[in-house]
Amino acid sequence: MDGHCSHEKVHLAGGIVDGHVIECPKHFGTFDYRTGEARALPACVGLSTYEVKVENGTVFIRL
Ligand code: FES
Repeated sequence: MDGHCSHEKVHLAGGIVDGHVIECPKHFGTFDYRTGEARALPACVGLSTYEVKVENGTVFIRL
């Protein structure tokens, strides 16, 4: 999933993950990281997601 919140472009790496949802560390908007769907305000625009696979310990991301 894109790494920056769609609300004010804060990096989501510092957010808390609960189940399939990541919470933005700034204003606590949430996203489903499987689909990129915005789940809680103030985040209301979804994020792009990318296909990922792991082979022999290497992570591949289809951009
Ligand atoms: S910057 Fe993420 S909810 Fe505001």
